[in-house]
Amino acid sequence: MADRWTQGTFLLVDPEPVGWQACGRFSDLEEGKGVAVQIAGHPIALFLYDGNVEAIDARCPHAAGPLDRGWLDGGRVVCPLHRWKFEIRTGQCLTAPDKPVRHYRTRVDETGTIWVESGDLAK
Ligand code: FES
Repeated sequence: MADRWTQGTFLLVDPEPVGWQACGRFSDLEEGKGVAVQIAGHPIALFLYDGNVEAIDARCPHAAGPLDRGWLDGGRVVCPLHRWKFEIRTGQCLTAPDKPVRHYRTRVDETGTIWVESGDLAK
C-alpha cells in the first residue's frame, strides 16, 4: 500500500476498505486468462472477462482442480481436470448445480489495484 509518510510530510490517503483485500494489478490481467491469488491462505482465481475482473474460488469442488488454470468458454470457466463448467459472474456450476464455487465482488481503484471483497476469509 502507499506510504503514509514521505520526507516528514503526513499524507492523507484513503484507508484500506474494510473487508476488501488488495490482490494485484489490473494491468497484469489478460482477457480470458486466469491468475491465482490468495486471501488468508484461501486460493482465489481472478479472470478478466469482458473488461471486468471476476473472482471465484480457485479450487474446483469436484476434485480440487485449479480453476485459475482453466479457460473461458464464453462466460464460463472450464476446469482443466474434468471440464466442469462454472459461470464466471456467479460461480454457479453448470455441470453439477449443487456444487457452485464462491464468487467475490471486485473493484479496481484509481491506481489500478484490484480489490476483492474478502468478507469472512480474512478474519
Ligand atoms: S477437478 Fe474440476 S472437474 Fe474434476
